[in-house]
Amino acid sequence: MEKILITGGLGFIGSHTVVELQNQGYEVLIIDNLSNSSLDVLKGIEKITGICPSFENIDLRNKEAVAGFFKAHNTIDGIIHFAASKAVGESVLNPLHYYENNVSALVNVLQEVLQKKNPVHFIFSSSCTVYGQADTMPIKENAPVKMADSPYGNTKQIGEEILKDLCKVKPTMNSILLRYFNPIGAHPSTNIGELPLGKPQNLVPFITQTAAGLYEKVTVFGNDYPTIDGTCVRDYIDVVDLAKAHVAALNRLLHQKNESNYEVYNLGSGTGSSVLEVIQSFERVSGESLTYIIGARRAGDVTAAYADTALANEKLNWQTKVSLDTSVLNAWNWEKKIRGI
Ligand code: UD1
Repeated sequence: MEKILITGGLGFIGSHTVVELQNQGYEVLIIDNLSNSSLDVLKGIEKITGICPSFENIDLRNKEAVAGFFKAHNTIDGIIHFAASKAVGESVLNPLHYYENNVSALVNVLQEVLQKKNPVHFIFSSSCTVYGQADTMPIKENAPVKMADSPYGNTKQIGEEILKDLCKVKPTMNSILLRYFNPIGAHPSTNIGELPLGKPQNLVPFITQTAAGLYEKVTVFGNDYPTIDGTCVRDYIDVVDLAKAHVAALNRLLHQKNESNYEVYNLGSGTGSSVLEVIQSFERVSGESLTYIIGARRAGDVTAAYADTALANEKLNWQTKVSLDTSVLNAWNWEKKIRGI
């Protein structure tokens, strides 16, 4: 059985990926420092798959701990590196935390894996944030990377560059970079889902938490954008579809189907939805009416971002299957479950 290391495996996207890997017969080792996750996620994964993955509480900023882990685990066939901080606003206030947690930790992991003689199969979580406001839609992978708007965005660009530099000189290093658009939803079983710490910054958890009574109303950040209804357009991708793309990318590397040792794929649904369309979707599937107001634009928001998914569809042999409505419904069912509604 091939052994896959998942860093940040108790997080939102990580935990759903663990489920899909176990469903495909992979043995999974999770490293997580529990900074934005909970041990209960292990139970949720076990409920879905019948297998409790092995878990180590390691902070990847700790070089000795990382070295110790790789010394103890000689036979890792692939790594999916999710562990990172992801709050844009927080990154502006505390940039060094972001450079340490997202960049130094990546370097620590890469230094250890490159000491092994075996080929390295490495999947990196990147973001559509690297495109900034792209000049054309849908966004293809060869669209220019624009100057980052926040330290968080910059850590994703730096992570990509580190891997690019490394792949040029290390032929044993094989990496796939996955640029996520807007991941939403939850596992349909409601055993795992998103658990944002504090007030959610992202749209869908803010909608579901407001409908659950945690907040009074949703503020739509601006309705004067040049879009279908004036609100920003994003590409919402269901987390289970996203998790499956990771398994597809890993299979591509493990079966040596990759055409280069550094590949980049957009992971989105290919469809743009406005903020108001997401709110309408929520109201349709939940039967609840959501209290919302139109507010000012949020600094740093781009008008529109949605993916051209042709490359991922072809090369990863992967398609999204879950509709916006189903994904929003799964997020709502998860919210109701954790709030006891
Ligand atoms: C945000 C980050 C992005 C990061 C991604 C991770 C910013 C500017 N961008 O993407 O770098 O990779 O999260 O998940 O923070 N909205 C509202 N009201 C709300 C919340 C959001 O109207 O209360 C709108 C936003 O203006 C945006 C859309 O909903 O148009 C989606 O917002 P969000 O979920 O925060 O995602 P992004 O901003 O696209």
